[in-house]
Amino acid sequence: MKVGIIGSGTMGSGIAQVAATSGCIVKIYDTKQEALDKSKKSLEKVLARLIVKGRIDEIEKLRIQGNISYVNSLQDLGDSNLTIEAIIENLAIKQKVFAELETYVTDDCIIASNTSSLSIASIAASLQKPERCVGIHFFNPAPLMKLVEVIPAIQTSTEVLDKATQTISDWKKTVAVAKDTPGFIVNRVARPFYGEALRIYEEGLADFATIDWALKSLGGFRMGPFELMDFIGNDVNYTVTETVFTAFYFDPRYKPAFTQKRFSEAGYLGRKSGKGYYDYSEGAIKPTPTEDKDLAQTIFDRVLVMLINEAADALFLNVASATDIDNAMTKGVNYPKGLLTWADEKGIAWCVDKLDTMYNEYHEDRYRCSPLLRKMNREGKIFFK
Ligand SMILES: NC(=O)c1ccc[n+]([C@@H]2O[C@H](COP(=O)([O-])OP(=O)(O)OC[C@H]3O[C@@H](n4cnc5c(N)ncnc54)[C@H](O)[C@@H]3O)[C@@H](O)[C@H]2O)c1
Repeated sequence: MKVGIIGSGTMGSGIAQVAATSGCIVKIYDTKQEALDKSKKSLEKVLARLIVKGRIDEIEKLRIQGNISYVNSLQDLGDSNLTIEAIIENLAIKQKVFAELETYVTDDCIIASNTSSLSIASIAASLQKPERCVGIHFFNPAPLMKLVEVIPAIQTSTEVLDKATQTISDWKKTVAVAKDTPGFIVNRVARPFYGEALRIYEEGLADFATIDWALKSLGGFRMGPFELMDFIGNDVNYTVTETVFTAFYFDPRYKPAFTQKRFSEAGYLGRKSGKGYYDYSEGAIKPTPTEDKDLAQTIFDRVLVMLINEAADALFLNVASATDIDNAMTKGVNYPKGLLTWADEKGIAWCVDKLDTMYNEYHEDRYRCSPLLRKMNREGKIFFK
């Protein structure tokens, strides 16, 4: 299979590595020669590291590198069976590139976008044959993260969706098919992990270190929400939240937090700026959490039930299947357990009760219980047998 990648930044380079490792002939295109050079160098480094770790040998390294060529013209992608675009997150620019690309490729070439926040329908609309367009959303780092969300637009043909899904499975990734809705699965369902943690902090219930400790020790999350926001970058994480909030017509469930906005405005972006919710400068001492078990339980229950509510509502609105929603969170963002599985374990009645208690306390729409949870509770159902 011949694969064309547009954009040789973080995502394009990672996707090219995945495709080339699976034996595809890959051409990667970027408008900037420096970006192509950087991509080539970073692949060399990544593969050298895999040799040191004993994952691949020199022959395999040369095979992967031999499968990738770096090109300066979009026209060079003309013989691709599949193209995946991973350029700047700007609709007008993506549409322009898609319209031009379509004049070079054959009629049966699939044209995909790795966009995180734009609708696939709006990108597909730039094509003469919009039915060939589909979202193929990898997670960073693409070679390591198992999950890929495949998103059919309303224009996408069944044949294109099937081919895209099959190709991504052949690349040994777990596919979760998601509806073309803001944040798809992961970037929607994960919002409360950050949002509720920030709200708990803003209410003065606990500090960053205590909230992180509660979610790691009771929930088994690898990183607490504040550690994770610092890792992702407060600017990047805030923008995703704001984009999802706006795209959902300002549904209060996704309302961004002033705390994160101020941290972002102040340049406290996290690890990359040396300071975020924590101090990353040399010799800095990490604050110790208040190890109060009852407080930890309150924090953990509140964040978990909000995550479960979001996952249940995504299922209620047919964003994806229950299995795909659970796989998305365990394989896309390394959650210790799928949220719907977690709901079954905690009990649907427990979830409804926790949400209703918060709703009664706050009278905020943010805490409204998903109709699906309420219905399942009434009917004594669970998500998985
Ligand atoms: N970084 C992430 O964690 C992540 C995860 C999933 C999806 N995405 C999405 O993937 C896409 C790329 O993100 P990234 O983080 O790799 O960005 P990046 O900035 O690392 O790379 C983008 C590359 O595209 C190139 N480019 C810009 N305009 C171009 C054009 N018109 N033609 C060809 N090349 C062009 C740039 O020179 C750059 O090398 C975005 O749509 C983003 O939303 C990013």
